[in-house]
Amino acid sequence: MRLLEVNDLQVELITGDRVVRAVDGVSFHIDRGETVTIIGESGSGKSTTAMAILRLLPDDLAVISGEARIAGEDVTGSRDVIDRLRGRAVALIPQDPMTALNPIATIGRQMTEAVRIKYPRLSTAEARAKALDLMEQVHIRTPDKQFAAYPHQLSGGMLQRVLIAMAVSTDADLIVADEPTSALDVTVQAGILDLLLELQEKTGIGLLLITHDLGVARLMSDRVHVMKAGAFVEGGPVTEVVDHPQHPYTQKLLGAIPELGPWHDPALEKENSHG
Ligand SMILES: Nc1ncnc2c1ncn2[C@@H]1O[C@H](COP(=O)(O)OP(=O)(O)O)[C@@H](O)[C@H]1O
Ligand SMILES: [Mg+2]
Repeated sequence: MRLLEVNDLQVELITGDRVVRAVDGVSFHIDRGETVTIIGESGSGKSTTAMAILRLLPDDLAVISGEARIAGEDVTGSRDVIDRLRGRAVALIPQDPMTALNPIATIGRQMTEAVRIKYPRLSTAEARAKALDLMEQVHIRTPDKQFAAYPHQLSGGMLQRVLIAMAVSTDADLIVADEPTSALDVTVQAGILDLLLELQEKTGIGLLLITHDLGVARLMSDRVHVMKAGAFVEGGPVTEVVDHPQHPYTQKLLGAIPELGPWHDPALEKENSHG
């Protein structure tokens, strides 16, 4: 069975008097051990796709249609389904580690609480031991010391490791990571991406990765889908899409990588000169 199967997913966002079709009929799937990446410019609908699959969009903001099956169960209908699956079959690594944790609770307390969602019967000492073990698995040095710390005392990279440990604590087969390194320094990014690859190798999790960074996509993905204005314009094995982009939009994204040289779009330059 597929970890994730999305069919013709549509999301309409309702704000005041406006309706935006932020996701306009996307289809894709993820099997065990695979990383599938959605790449696209800011505003193309990547996060909305992920948040719709996790049902993290408020009902009065978002109207979802189509199908999104996690471990075979369609989450687009009743919220009961995702309530059962979130933190069990699927877990989220959030975009901004600085704001994802409770600022007034220690790392240890938050890790222990995360562990207890999966293992409610553990004693305090057992939950602590399990939390420390998870912190070691994500290569947090001196986990004892970090356990007693508050979020503001940790670096962004360290906080993201804590959040990855929390995702791992669920034993979920599918992890959704929305721009997991975008808020971090370039030097820290590589370590976090390495960690995700290592965890995947070890546990065979499926990863839905969202990024606007083709370098990240190239490093991490088995398959990529290129998203523009709510729809996928092309997709396939990462080497194919990156080395032989068919769609002009993908060629532009590729051109946006500085190493590959500057990209000049006369139409856009003209537009900008009027602004
Ligand atoms: N809370 C919201 N209310 C209204 N419109 C939104 C909201 N969040 C996103 N949008 C709109 O939906 C579209 C897709 O946004 P998003 O999924 O965040 O893109 P991405 O993650 O690719 O940058 C954009 O046009 C954005 O303006
Ligand atoms: Mg986003």
